[in-house]
Order: sequence, then structure tokens, then C-alpha cells
Amino acid sequence: MKGLVLSGGKGTRLYPLTYTSAKQLIPVANKPVLFRVIEAIRDAGITDIGIVVGDTAEEIQRAVGRGGRWGVKITYIHQEAPLGLAHAVKISQDFLGDDRFVMFLGDNVIQGGISPLIAQFANSDHNSQIVLTRVDVPEQYGVAELDADGRIVRLIEKPKEPPSDLALVGIYMFDHHIFEAVNSITPSWRGELEITDAIQWLIEHGYFVSPYIHRGWWIDTGRPGDMLEANSLVLEELEPRIEGYVNRDSEVDSRVTIEKGAEIINSVVRGPAIIGEDTRIVNAYVGPFTSIYHHVHIENAEISRSIVLEYSQIRNLDHRIEDSLIGRHVVIHRSPIRPRAYKFTIGDHSHLGLLGNGG
Ligand code: TTP
Repeated sequence: MKGLVLSGGKGTRLYPLTYTSAKQLIPVANKPVLFRVIEAIRDAGITDIGIVVGDTAEEIQRAVGRGGRWGVKITYIHQEAPLGLAHAVKISQDFLGDDRFVMFLGDNVIQGGISPLIAQFANSDHNSQIVLTRVDVPEQYGVAELDADGRIVRLIEKPKEPPSDLALVGIYMFDHHIFEAVNSITPSWRGELEITDAIQWLIEHGYFVSPYIHRGWWIDTGRPGDMLEANSLVLEELEPRIEGYVNRDSEVDSRVTIEKGAEIINSVVRGPAIIGEDTRIVNAYVGPFTSIYHHVHIENAEISRSIVLEYSQIRNLDHRIEDSLIGRHVVIHRSPIRPRAYKFTIGDHSHLGLLGNGG
């Protein structure tokens, strides 16, 4: 089998972080989501992986390279514009040939990897297998309708009256018949070739599409809140290790990872949390569900349930930062200069939650 990872797209919902960089490279528990996807495919025994790239191709190629680090072979496939998931399959036909393949959205994180689902598909004669999971608000997802025998009858995008609570997870398996489907369908109202339409085409033309019900968690990291949620879930499962320096006056609990070259000085770090390479935490508090990436400096400040990206600085704050996604090279500090006022240099589409009078 082959792997196909979708890593094009615009990532508008994660602006401003994704103005200048690829959303699939935002780290969850200090590892880019895309790296987690590649590892999940590799762990399922697949080593020939194509990555569909768009405007952020250069950045993704620089970060991922040829795949040697994971023992896989990466082929890049250029998509001129994000014209839909089925379009991405269409332009990958040369790479995929007649092989069965798994397609994995490069911004999705799934608990427990994909080995069981790949094993089920690889040993079957099904033409496609889609991964479904039970969700609380099916109205917001692509939803599958199953018949009494558990076969998929229909897929519906964001149904007003959902026929089930089984939503499509961003992982799909196909054989070569999918090319007939993607070449037959037409763009949807939003101008994209939809993968749900292609799967519906397979069902209607007598091909067998089987469901796989995933029972762990799964997160599509499309919005900042999802990113923080994925970060918390992955941190909970991280095997802790201390490779950096923790001074005697610091308190670091057992579910904390301190990466190489990091320093914790007179600070408290409560797990699950991860502190990245060459980051300094001084007279500070880092609370649960926080990932601080590499080369960050936090001093006289408190932060919890947040993600801080590389080379940022947070200093001398009166109030704790919580539930925040902080980009690269960001500086947040209390200014000693009068008048006492908020002073901002903030990019387009930024979100700030300021304390009110009662705070
Ligand atoms: P989406 O989250 O559906 O789209 P997006 O990345 O453009 O995000 P936003 O809605 O915030 O603008 O895409 C899911 C994944 O598939 C993501 O990793 C990007 C990738 N993708 C492609 O590679 N090609 C495409 O044509 C599309 C639509 C998405």
C-alpha cells in the first residue's frame, strides 16, 4: 500500500499563524502535526508516501525532506490551488498507480495510530474503507448513513437532520477505482471536488465502501480551540523525560518533559506539559496542558493550557495566560514606560482577550 498526505490548503481558520507558514507544521506537544501523520503511516508499515503541497510547498519540503529520518520515501505532488480533497487524489494518480492507498489529512491527529484500520483494509477486497467516529454534534461534519447490515448507504455534508452520529474522520482508504470517481464528479457549490461526492459515486456504481468505526479520540486541528484540545490529549499520553536542567529551587512534577538544553530556574512546572529545546523558564509557573516550543523565554510570568511557538518571549506579567495559542517570535511583556496602557503591534486576524474591570 501507499500513503497520500494532504498538506496543501490555506488554513484560513488558523490566521494569523498560518499567514506565513503551513498549518500542518504547527506543533502539538512540540511535534508538528504533519510529522505525527507521517509516523502514523510509517508505523502501519507503509513507506512510500506522497505529500500533496500547495503555496507552502517550500516550507513543508524544508521541514520534511526526503523522509530518511523516518525510514520512508517521500514524493511531493504539487497542487496549483486547493481545489478539493478529490482534486488532490486526481493529481496524484501517477504517484499512486494501481496500488491501494490510505489518504490522511495532514492536519488531523488520531489516538492510537492507524495500524488496525490499515490491516483491516489491506486484507479485504473492499474498494474503499472510510473511518467514522461518534460525535456530539453531527450537524457540523460529513455524516454517514448505514443500513441494517452496517453498509454505508449515503454520505451527507453537514446535515440539518443527521441520519446518525457517525462523522467522517480525515482518513480514507481506496483502490484504483477511486480515479473513475474523481474523474466523473463535478465541483460542488464551493468550487471544490469533494471527496464525499467521489465516495458517494463509488457507492452508487456498485463498489463496496466499508465503514471502520474508530473508538479513540480524533481531532481535526482546523481552529485554535481544536489545536489546544489536540495538544492536551497528546500531552496526556506523552512518555515524560527530563533531558534539560532543573535547578534545586524548581518544582517539576512527574508528567513533565524537559527537552535538551532547556533550563528551569526557580519555577514550577505542572504536567502534563513539555518544555522545548533551549527554552528558559525563570521565576515562572507553567501549568498543565502547556507546550512551550524551542528557544522560548518565560520569566516572571504564569501560563497554562497553551501552546507557545519558537523564539517567543513572555516576561513580567501580572496575570496568568490561559487557553492561548502564541505564534513565533512574539514578545509579551509589561511595559515600564508611562502612560500605563496596552501597547500592541499585532498582525491581521489576531485575537486578544483582555481583562475587564472585574478581572
Ligand atoms: P481543510 O481544513 O478542509 O482546508 P484548509 O487547509 O484550506 O483550511 P481552512 O478551512 O482553515 O482554510 O483541509 C484539510 C487538509 O487537506 C489540510 O491539511 C489541507 C489539505 N488540502 C489539500 O491539500 N488540498 C485541498 O485542495 C484542500 C481543500 C485541502
